[in-house]
Amino acid sequence: MTARAKNNRTLTIMEGESQILLPLITQPAEIVNGFDFNDKLINADLLDVLNLIPDSVADLIIIDPPYNLTKDFNGKTFRARSNDEYKEYLKSWFGRVCGKLKPSGSLYLCGDWRSSSALQDIMSEELTILNRITWQREKGRGAAANWKNGMEDIWFGVKDPKNYFFNVEAVKQRRRVLAPYRVKGNPKDWEETPSGNFRMTYPSNFWDDISIPFWSMPENTDHPTQKPEKLFAKLVLASSKEGDLVFDPFCGSGTSAVVAKKLHRRYLGVEINKEYCLWAAKRLLNAATDAFIQGYDGHVFWERNTLSAQKQCAVSSASNSSNSDHKKTSFTSTSLFDL
Ligand SMILES: C[S@@+](CC[C@H](N)C(=O)[O-])C[C@H]1O[C@@H](n2cnc3c(N)ncnc32)[C@H](O)[C@@H]1O
Repeated sequence: MTARAKNNRTLTIMEGESQILLPLITQPAEIVNGFDFNDKLINADLLDVLNLIPDSVADLIIIDPPYNLTKDFNGKTFRARSNDEYKEYLKSWFGRVCGKLKPSGSLYLCGDWRSSSALQDIMSEELTILNRITWQREKGRGAAANWKNGMEDIWFGVKDPKNYFFNVEAVKQRRRVLAPYRVKGNPKDWEETPSGNFRMTYPSNFWDDISIPFWSMPENTDHPTQKPEKLFAKLVLASSKEGDLVFDPFCGSGTSAVVAKKLHRRYLGVEINKEYCLWAAKRLLNAATDAFIQGYDGHVFWERNTLSAQKQCAVSSASNSSNSDHKKTSFTSTSLFDL
C-alpha cells in the first residue's frame, strides 16, 4: 500500500477486510429465480446481468457511464472513439436499462461536453428530456491550447412527463442574502441568524456548490471518476421518495448506493470491477453508522465556504433539541476543506 499523508482519509481495504466485504457483493451465479434485488451490489458486466434484472423495478436510475475519453478503470481501459461509435456503445445498453425504470420513474445520465451530444441523442430516443444540469467542478488538467474543462452535464429524463415525482422542497439551497429586504422591519423571505442572513432558494440547473471528493474527505476512494455524495443526494432527494429503489448500472465506488442508503432508499448497483465493489461495500457498511453527507446538513444544501455557519446552525439547533437525522455525525467527518 502506498504511504498516505496524515490527514488523508481515502478509504482503503485493510488486510482481512475482503473476507467480511465479499459476502456483501452478489455474483451473477447467485441470481436465481425469486432473487431479491433490494439493497444489492452486483459484481458483473452490465451486459451479462441486464436480462436477469426484472423490468420496471426502479423508481430512479442514475447512470454515470464511461465518458468518451480514454480512461483506465483499474486495469480495464475504456478508449475514446468517434461520436458514432460512442453512440453505438450507448445503444448497446441504454434502451435495456430504461426498461428497468417504472413508468413514473426518472433517469439522470452524466457526461462531459465531448460525450454530451451522443447522450442527448440516445436519451431522446427513449425518454422525454426535461433538463440538462450543469455541474461546475474544479478538477481537470489545464490545457495550453484549449480551455480547461470545469463542468459536467447531467441529463434529466422521464418516461412520462405527465406522471413523475419531483420534490423541489427537498433540494432547496440555503444562500446568503446579499440584499436583506425588510417589510415593516421584518425580514422578507429570509432568516436572520447569528451566523448571517440566509434564504432558502429554488435550485436551478446550474450547480456550483459541489466539490469533487478530496483525499481529506471520508467518502473519498481511489476511483478515478468518483462522484460526490452531495451531487447524487440532490438527484435522489428530488426524484425519489423514502423506500424507493435507486438503480445504478455503472456504480463504481458505490456513490449512488451509499447516498440511497443514507437517505433511506433501496439501492441496486452493478459494477464490473471487483476492487471497486469492495470499496462500495465498505462505504455501505460505514453508512450504517454514519449517514452524514458532506455539504448537506440539517436537511439543507449549503453553499461552499459556509462551514462555520453550518457549525453554528448545528449548535443552535442542538440546543433547541430540534430533530436532524444527521446530528449524531455532523462535523465528526468534516474534511479539512470547507465545503
Ligand atoms: C464513471 S465510473 C462511475 C463512478 C461512480 N459514479 C462513482 O461515484 O464511483 C464508470 C464505472 O463503470 C464501470 N464499468 C465500465 N463498463 C462496465 C460494464 N460493462 N459493466 C459494469 N460496469 C462497468 C467502470 O469500472 C467504472 O467504475
